[in-house]
Amino acid sequence: MSKKTGVAIFGLGRAGSIHIMNCIKNFRIQVVWLIDVDLDHCKEIINKYCLDGTRCCTPNETQLVFDDENVSAVLICSPTFTHENLVKTALENGKAVFCEKPISKSLQATKECYDLSEKSKLPLFCSFNRRFDPSISSIQEQIRQDNLGKLYTIRTCSRDCPLPSMDYLKSSGGFFHDCAVHDIDMICWILNEYPKSVFAVATAHDSRIREMNDWDTAVITLKFDSGVIGVIEISRFSEFGYDQRLEIHGKTGMLTSNFQFQDSTESFTKSGKLSTPLKWSFNSRYAESYVNALETFIDAVRTGKTLEICKRSTVRVSEIADACEESIKLSQLVEIHYSED
Ligand SMILES: NC(=O)c1ccc[n+]([C@@H]2O[C@H](COP(=O)([O-])OP(=O)(O)OC[C@H]3O[C@@H](n4cnc5c(N)ncnc54)[C@H](O)[C@@H]3O)[C@@H](O)[C@H]2O)c1
Repeated sequence: MSKKTGVAIFGLGRAGSIHIMNCIKNFRIQVVWLIDVDLDHCKEIINKYCLDGTRCCTPNETQLVFDDENVSAVLICSPTFTHENLVKTALENGKAVFCEKPISKSLQATKECYDLSEKSKLPLFCSFNRRFDPSISSIQEQIRQDNLGKLYTIRTCSRDCPLPSMDYLKSSGGFFHDCAVHDIDMICWILNEYPKSVFAVATAHDSRIREMNDWDTAVITLKFDSGVIGVIEISRFSEFGYDQRLEIHGKTGMLTSNFQFQDSTESFTKSGKLSTPLKWSFNSRYAESYVNALETFIDAVRTGKTLEICKRSTVRVSEIADACEESIKLSQLVEIHYSED
């Protein structure tokens, strides 16, 4: 029988909690280490899920993890500012890397991480999980098959719920690199094209976010060589649940992916129709995508299969996020000159 892939998971917050559960349920994975500042939380998880043989430590003791030959891969789910150092150290110590988005807010750091992955011949997977959502990947497939003919517009509405903590937002890398990168990556992946220019407007309705010099609401327009116009409407707020929509309009029709309800129950009365609330957050709305993303990564680790989310796509998404920030600061359209061919 083939050996399971031993993994270490860094960070057991919102993202890490999703990935630890998917790792536990995955027959090909053995969770060898949990690493978090909050060691008691690691111990609670180990006890609750009977993870005999799983060890835990704080970030000060990570050399124990990198020296452990039973660890073939690491999942980096700690705050964004910790990613670069962890990615580089993991690769230097012979471990494959699954890293939550963004790899880094810095373009240079992102490139260096991928260069190291290439040099060490180890996969570096940036978790743009929406690509692995069944509805979104079905739309991408239909666009590849040219089902809509000439494309006119692509629109996303991405309203986050609930508002993350102010501590999270302070270390998030900013609204565009933290949030909008999901929509940017998804649009470029579906169209198989990168915009030649962007124009973005943004504001901070929340004074605490304004004081961080960040934004919480934005509209981004993207112009593509093919003539397609992309529009991203994005917000940190949505009081009614996780509002995620996608719409593509082309010559022969339209493709949409709508927000999802917690279940499909509908009640009809004299007053009208009632549904259940929307799925509350990313963990429920994109649950399948996280499972599929992890499978893709483990396939790459075990079989050497090439990853579609690569240096070129991740670097370009980061360059587009930078261009959005520049557009807001200059109040003008920004042409993008990509550094990667
Ligand atoms: N793909 C997605 O849908 C998605 C969703 C949420 C967050 N994320 C990304 O995941 C990352 C984490 O976000 P989050 O929302 O889970 O944050 P979080 O604040 O909820 O959790 C971070 C965890 O990391 C721990 N930690 C801090 N420093 C650490 C270190 N050096 N080593 C190990 N653990 C450390 C913290 O104690 C905390 O438990 C961010 O990069 C974020 O952009 C991605």
